[in-house]
Amino acid sequence: MTREELYKSFEDKNKAAEIGGGIDRIEKQHSAGKMTARERIEKLLDKGTFVELDKFMVHNCSNFGMDKKHLPGDGVVTGHGKVEGRQVFVYAYDFTTYGGTLGAVTAKKIVKVQELALKNGAPIIGLNDSGGARIQEGVDSLSGYASIFYQNTMASGVIPQISAILGPCAGGACYSPALTDFIYMVDEKSYMFVTGPEVVKTVTHEEVTKEELGGAYTHGSKSGVTHFVCDSEEALLMSIRELLSFIPSNNMEDAPRSTCTDDMNRVIPALNDIVPIDPNVPYDMKDIIEPVLDDHYFYEVMPHFAKNAIIGFGRLGGKSVGIVANQPAFLAGVLDIDSSDKIARFIRFCDCFNIPIVTFEDVPGFLPGTAQEHAGIIRHGAKIVYAYSEATVPKVTLITRKAYGGAYIVMSCKETGSDVNLSYPNAEIAVMGADGAVNILYRNADEETRANAIQEYKDNFANPYRSAEKGYLDEIIMPKDTRIKLIQALEMAKNKVKNIPPKKHGNIPL
Ligand code: HXC
Repeated sequence: MTREELYKSFEDKNKAAEIGGGIDRIEKQHSAGKMTARERIEKLLDKGTFVELDKFMVHNCSNFGMDKKHLPGDGVVTGHGKVEGRQVFVYAYDFTTYGGTLGAVTAKKIVKVQELALKNGAPIIGLNDSGGARIQEGVDSLSGYASIFYQNTMASGVIPQISAILGPCAGGACYSPALTDFIYMVDEKSYMFVTGPEVVKTVTHEEVTKEELGGAYTHGSKSGVTHFVCDSEEALLMSIRELLSFIPSNNMEDAPRSTCTDDMNRVIPALNDIVPIDPNVPYDMKDIIEPVLDDHYFYEVMPHFAKNAIIGFGRLGGKSVGIVANQPAFLAGVLDIDSSDKIARFIRFCDCFNIPIVTFEDVPGFLPGTAQEHAGIIRHGAKIVYAYSEATVPKVTLITRKAYGGAYIVMSCKETGSDVNLSYPNAEIAVMGADGAVNILYRNADEETRANAIQEYKDNFANPYRSAEKGYLDEIIMPKDTRIKLIQALEMAKNKVKNIPPKKHGNIPL
């Protein structure tokens, strides 16, 4: 063979490998409104940075005629590249090759990039579009999944792990994404379920569509499985790039810092008029969060699930911060099971990855009732106090209005390790609201006694001064100064050193 023939043969093999399951299947993928695995990777990474690994690997299964089918890559494209110049590892299931199903070799390729990502301290992004376990490979396929899940668990809290669901994700295949930090789904193009509609019908006699059972809307708003619902694959991939801009590459690094062009001493007079004087009138907490952040930009996480809580990323003075807030515009900002889970898991992510946490608090308490009690609000609510107490990153809390009862305690009070606690002059910090308190203390009293007691309670507790006198608050601030005060607080706490007692790991109430 001449040198030319040798190189030509290599190029031909390369090209053949890059068309995965073939032109017909690529066209089918496109006509379903989906990109191929390689197209997705190209869009996700900085141009020309992708380095593919194991392009020629093939399965070694001979069951059910598989010995006659050998498509290079074995259903997944793996490798590494850059996002905004930073190293990331990536794997993308190739639906054109055996429906992106997972066999032993597919798993081996994925585990290799998982190990590389962990060893090199870089985020890993999985792009899922797969028929699940490759039936022909039997237990080898299940073993492959188990190895992937194990690596997910080992990498948890060490490197950020991000999953995109861009097509089917069925059965046990859901558990790798579920073990990662953030899940993205495309509206009407992706679905996740442990058992599909057919099985559901057989077992429970329920009739349900794929979309209803496990589509993006379902997981984004009802189950809380997915963190982001995007309109298109392209928007989703761009959103992942954006998320990466807020987070460090591993748990030993600080979050990336960007040049702050927004005035750090920016006074925001409009904030003086956001919180209504009447404590029962709602307002949108995002009207405070957004203007305070650099360039008014808030990257919200789980915007459609448990809307009584708000979580997401922003920057203050160019540095990434995690935002946790109650939302008085939805269920009065009350804490319930779903909002507790949402908040606690986000706090833990921020703490794993050295991202300071800023809490905006306006909470009337935990949601009462049998539905919540029987479903374990005690167990779920405890997650918030556990997560805040355990978090050693800088923590700053701003009480914008109500901080009642247990909710005062769990939303990052000083006793659970918050570094700086601020409030607006209209804050109310008490065991409960005035009416509720008087109903208990003066149950059988006449109207006048009750009215006097309500007034006395309000004078005592419907303000932040008792808390400030006792040192539970560090400072009462004017709303217009919120941005300045938060930046000052974070600056003060930026070199914080706080260790928790040595232990194997804690036992967060799950
Ligand atoms: C082997 C599979 C497969 C599978 C799909 N294919 N799923 N091959 N094992 N699990 C093959 C198809 O035979 C087909 O091959 C090709 O992939 C494309 O699939 P189509 O059905 O033509 O595509 P589409 O109509 O778009 O439907 C996609 C699909 C459907 C919705 C994913 O294929 C499907 O329902 N598959 C089964 C899903 C499933 O139940 N998976 C197992 C879950 S249990 P040809 O050669 O004909 O093109 C599981 C356990 C894991 O994953 C446990 C881990 C702990």
